[in-house]
Amino acid sequence: MASRRTGAAAEREQRVAEVVAGWLDRQGLPPGGDRVLVVDDEDGGVERAVAGAGGKLRAWRRRAWEGRAARPWPAEDEVDLALVRLPRGWMDLAMQLDATLSRLRPGGRLWLYGGNDEGIKSAPRHLAEATGGAMTEVETLWIKQRTRILEALRPEGLSLRGALEAWREEVALDLPGVGPRTVVSYPGLFAHGRLDEASALLLSVLPPVPPGARVLDFGCGAGALAMAVAARQPVAKLFLCDVDTVALVAARQNVPGAQLLLGDGWGAVELGARFDLVLSNPPLHRGHAEDRGTLDALVQQAPLRLVAGGRLVLVTWKVAGISAMLGERFDKVDLLADAGGHQVWQATAR
Ligand SMILES: C[S@@+](CC[C@H](N)C(=O)[O-])C[C@H]1O[C@@H](n2cnc3c(N)ncnc32)[C@H](O)[C@@H]1O
Repeated sequence: MASRRTGAAAEREQRVAEVVAGWLDRQGLPPGGDRVLVVDDEDGGVERAVAGAGGKLRAWRRRAWEGRAARPWPAEDEVDLALVRLPRGWMDLAMQLDATLSRLRPGGRLWLYGGNDEGIKSAPRHLAEATGGAMTEVETLWIKQRTRILEALRPEGLSLRGALEAWREEVALDLPGVGPRTVVSYPGLFAHGRLDEASALLLSVLPPVPPGARVLDFGCGAGALAMAVAARQPVAKLFLCDVDTVALVAARQNVPGAQLLLGDGWGAVELGARFDLVLSNPPLHRGHAEDRGTLDALVQQAPLRLVAGGRLVLVTWKVAGISAMLGERFDKVDLLADAGGHQVWQATAR
C-alpha cells in the first residue's frame, strides 16, 4: 500500500530506502545465509529490495502505519541478516536492537541505516552501549545521499533482555485533578517516564465528563489522558487508539477495561462509532520528520465521529495554528488554555 505521507517526510524515507536498495542491487546479499529481518521499514522499499535480492524476508514493524501488520516484538524466527532503520530516539533504538539481536544468529550481520542528520554517525556508540560493550566494531558499508549503512557482527554469548516485558517500567506520575498514579511505560513511548506538559495542561482544564460518556483518547501513548478520565469519571466508556503496538501494551495495563484500537489515525476506529468526547495530544512527527497529517485528519473527520453536542478537546503547539481549521468545521470553538507555547481547544459538534 502506498504511504499517505507527503513532502519532506516522504522524500526522506524514499531517499534512505533507495540507498539501501542501491547497495543491495550492487552487492547482493552478503554471504552467510539468506534469512533477512527488516525492521521498521515504513514504506516497504527496503523489504522489496531484500526480496528482489533473493532474501527470505521477515518483516517486523512496531507501528501499524496505513493499516499494515504490526507487533510489539519480532516473531521468533532466527535470521542471518537484520536491517534496522535508525529510529528517532536512542532509548527506542536500544530496545529495538535488543529485539533484533535476539533474532539474529551469532555471527549474523546487523545493518543499521539512516541519515546523517538523524544521528547515524552516533549509532556505533549507542550500539556499544546497548550491548554492554560487546559490539564495538562497526564498519561503514556505504555513504550516499547523506545516508549511511553500518555493519556489525553479532557476537556469541551476547547478554540480551530478549522480551518486551524486560523493558517494562513503572513510573509515578502526578495526574492533574487525580493525584499520583503509577503508570506502566516502555522505551520509545511519548514522554516515556513523565507526564508531557501539554497533556498536563489539557487535563488541568478538561471540563467534567458526564457518566456513561463514550470517550476516545486519540493517539493514546501509554494512556495518561484516559487514565485521568477513568479516575475522574469511573463510569465513562473508554476507547484508546494508537498506531504503536507497544503503546497499546502499556495502555492495556494502565487503563484496564478500556477498548484498545490499533491503527493509523481514524483507520483504527470503526466507521459507525460515535463519541461524546474525543481527547488528544496529537502527533506532529512521523519518525524523524515533521508531519501534521494525523492532526489534520483528526480535526477534519472529528465532526463525523462525534454525537450531536459531542466535543473534541485537543492540545497542540500554538504555532500549529489550528483555530482556523477548527472554525471551518465546528460552529462552536473555545480556547480553554494558552500557556507555555501550547493551546487547548474545545470544539463542539452540532
Ligand atoms: C504526542 S503523543 C501523545 C501520547 C499520549 N496521549 C500522552 O498524552 O502522553 C502522540 C501519540 O500518537 C501516536 N500516533 C502517531 N501517529 C499516529 C497515527 N497516525 N495514528 C494513531 N496514533 C498515532 C503516537 O504513537 C503517540 O503515542
